[in-house]
Amino acid sequence: MNPDTDNQANAQASSQEKFATPDNTPQLQAFREVVESRRSVRRFTDTPIPDDVLADCLRLAMLAPNSSNLQPWEFYVIDDADKRKRAVKNCMNQNAAKTAARLIAVVARTDVWHDHAKQILREYPDKPVPKKVKDYYTKVVAMDFLRGPANVVSAAKWGATQVVRRVKGPIKSPYYTFEDTKNWATNNTALAAENLMLALRAHGFDSCPMGGFDEPAMKRLLNLSDDQHIIMMIGAGERADNGVYNSQFRFDQKQFVHYV
Ligand SMILES: Cc1cc2nc3c(=O)[nH]c(=O)nc-3n(C[C@H](O)[C@H](O)[C@H](O)COP(=O)(O)O)c2cc1C
Repeated sequence: MNPDTDNQANAQASSQEKFATPDNTPQLQAFREVVESRRSVRRFTDTPIPDDVLADCLRLAMLAPNSSNLQPWEFYVIDDADKRKRAVKNCMNQNAAKTAARLIAVVARTDVWHDHAKQILREYPDKPVPKKVKDYYTKVVAMDFLRGPANVVSAAKWGATQVVRRVKGPIKSPYYTFEDTKNWATNNTALAAENLMLALRAHGFDSCPMGGFDEPAMKRLLNLSDDQHIIMMIGAGERADNGVYNSQFRFDQKQFVHYV
């Protein structure tokens, strides 16, 4: 049993029926407007982002879909003046960082899956927690992530996976290496980052995601461990008149979308 695909799929199917909307509803128009008006903004005005607005954007960010609901993300809002100055420098003094009302480090964690699995069982909304859910978070999740010293468990997992695949058919690969877990955490956290940027836009603010920063220096500044990975910095604020540097364009859909 996999809550990702079973319980949640059923709940989603019924909520989709409830919320299914025909084309051109205000809801769809509003969504299009948010997505289409989001741009990477490199210059912001002096207008601050109120704390309650930022808190709502972060709340919406955390509603992003995420694997097994393990929520391996963190957001560091760098408000301290001295830290902020050093963080801007670590963002290579980019205008998007320098002029931002708020500067946020978006962090993926490779070490929280175990604690979060336990926390899910403590905070699970349905009581008593169904046995299938308990088993999933105590056994399936553990087998997915455990690597053991010198990856010794990973080797056994790899062998077992090959056998099951051959004998029984398709099986989802578990995570064998630190890099696998890092990819997993990064995938999940990137979805939250996009939610955050769209939420800012919906609130009338803008953002710029930045990969152009010195990660080791930023990690030292924020006192982060080897299991905390800054996947991007986000500068946020009100768009200045000269904040967008170029027209938006994308390649043709046909280049990327394959109906198979
Ligand atoms: C992971 C990532 C890293 C980025 N890094 C930077 C950056 O360091 N500096 C910058 O000005 N823009 C950065 N961008 C913004 C992109 O340049 C921008 O999204 C792209 O040109 C498309 O423009 P649009 O966002 O306005 O549609 C980054 C975007 C992403 C998703």
